[in-house]
Amino acid sequence: MRLILLGPPGAGKGTQAVRIAQATGLAHISTGDMFRENMRSGTELGLAARQYIDHGELVPDEVTIGMLLERLDQPDAAAGILLDGFPRTVEQAHALDDALAASGEHVHQALLIDVTAQVVRDRLAGRWSCPQDGSVYHEVNNPPKNVGKCDLDGEILIQREDDTPDAINRRLAVYDEQTAPLIAYYKAANKLVRIDGERSAKQVGDALLAAIGAEVP
Ligand code: AP5
Repeated sequence: MRLILLGPPGAGKGTQAVRIAQATGLAHISTGDMFRENMRSGTELGLAARQYIDHGELVPDEVTIGMLLERLDQPDAAAGILLDGFPRTVEQAHALDDALAASGEHVHQALLIDVTAQVVRDRLAGRWSCPQDGSVYHEVNNPPKNVGKCDLDGEILIQREDDTPDAINRRLAVYDEQTAPLIAYYKAANKLVRIDGERSAKQVGDALLAAIGAEVP
């Protein structure tokens, strides 16, 4: 299976991707996580990406597409992929279609987690993440067992630098301008599945698993 998770910033793509990957064995590929890893390690790619990410802008297509296509060449991607945060522009969608077609593959479904801007703002304002393993929490909806610490490794949780009110506003505007057109793109290809994302994380996850034909525990 080759699946795409679509949705505005804070819709819950990362939260749900972890669950779907565990249930299906698909390789979870998040371009946002890849950029953040590069920023932490101080690579040239990370330094270039930071100037866009911290302001809520998209990293240019040529950088992002190159990084993603390299990742698709890794062995774990051969058995199936779950893309989280890619594509984000129509040009990226074309590049993905072309790359998959070159190896006789295609996107099976684009799963849209549908939430309003107000819900996004509440979710991002309360989000805390583990800098070590990337686990995501919410101070009200999904708090860690010990305040401020990761359940898995005890690391001090941090807030992302692009979760400031200004960056969130810009990310939402960029989503409307550049990413929302993908909804029509995948609808026209008969691949769009729309999931109501304004339910509990468990309910949203169950609906996603059902939509892809996976067993719902
Ligand atoms: P990326 O990391 O992809 O950020 P995003 O799309 O803005 O998405 P988020 O990670 O903010 O949110 P999410 O949907 O994963 O929600 P989460 O599960 O964390 O990208 C970051 C930046 O990198 C971009 O702005 C861009 O600059 C760059 N970039 C990345 N990909 C790119 C590309 N393809 N092209 C160009 N640039 C690119 O959940 C959010 C919060 O809500 C959490 O606290 C969570 O606990 C909570 N929550 C989740 N689900 C629920 C629920 N159902 N009910 C209640 N709370 C919930």
